[in-house]
Amino acid sequence: MHWKLKAAVQNLMGRLPPDLANPIYYRLQSSFGGLRRPTPVSRLKAGIDVVRRLRQFGHSAEAATFLEIGTGHQLNLPLSLWLCGASQITTVDLNRYLKEQLVINDLAYLRRHEDEVRDLFAGISPPELFEERFERLVTGADSLREVLALTHVRYWAPADAGNLALEPGSMDSHVSFTVLEHISAEALKRIFREGCRLLKPDGLFVHLIDFSDHFAHSDEAVSSVNFLQFSESEWNRLAGNRYMFHNRLRVDEFQNLLAELDLKILALDARVDDAAVAVLDRGFPLDERFRNKDCRTNATLEAWLVATPGLRG
Ligand SMILES: C[S@@+](CC[C@H](N)C(=O)[O-])C[C@H]1O[C@@H](n2cnc3c(N)ncnc32)[C@H](O)[C@@H]1O
Repeated sequence: MHWKLKAAVQNLMGRLPPDLANPIYYRLQSSFGGLRRPTPVSRLKAGIDVVRRLRQFGHSAEAATFLEIGTGHQLNLPLSLWLCGASQITTVDLNRYLKEQLVINDLAYLRRHEDEVRDLFAGISPPELFEERFERLVTGADSLREVLALTHVRYWAPADAGNLALEPGSMDSHVSFTVLEHISAEALKRIFREGCRLLKPDGLFVHLIDFSDHFAHSDEAVSSVNFLQFSESEWNRLAGNRYMFHNRLRVDEFQNLLAELDLKILALDARVDDAAVAVLDRGFPLDERFRNKDCRTNATLEAWLVATPGLRG
């Protein structure tokens, strides 16, 4: 779909009250958009990626507590953490987007693709623990309420990750997948400060940030850096609605934001989009906000960020 048509639809929906617009937008996403053929695999892998990074820094998912921010429509990242041994996962979202039918469909997928799912978790989750939990999940839950109870997942929505009624020092990890790019810099600071309050002293932030122009996900005619041509006001006019807000912060700006909060970055596994580098090399016109940045910084597609509040004074 041409990205400007998509932007116009989102802007229209964004002008309607959420109670009216959200169900319509969900139907559009289910018929034409990213929820047309949802499978749990990418978010199960996201949970595995989180656990890999915890291990890299001497942590384990087993018996650990997690806070996920920005649940979205499905529960697969929390389920993945539970299949790796998490003791409790709290997942929060500003919007109550979680859909029981999608969770039930995901369970059906797990039942139909047992071997594929086993292969995903091989070498990540202790085999006995995985088998016992996986068996319980695919046989013991048929509704959202049962899934939440069985897996010790608490779903809070609407809830703002910048202000949560949770005990200080109660979380081992603070995680998200494709969420931070949708939040303003000011709100991000509140969320990281709240995360510092909630994390144990040796706790970790583990977040996947998608830096790309999300219109490029569904319109092959534009590159992942297309949105960097627009001024702040142009971008706000095109995509400043609750469905497509993207802060366009580049990877260096995230680094600065964390440094400002005295957080220590332990890892930043970034993937650069070579096609976007080529577009920039050919002289793609950038807005002044991005003009002085290194080409690879502008063309960073996504990054896993691991950070610790441990060294804060
Ligand atoms: C692009 S969705 C990603 C959902 C999910 N993580 C996924 O991988 O599909 C971003 C989510 O972040 C949520 N969100 C935005 N700001 C938030 C905040 N301050 N606190 C909690 N959730 C927030 C939005 O409501 C939305 O559901």
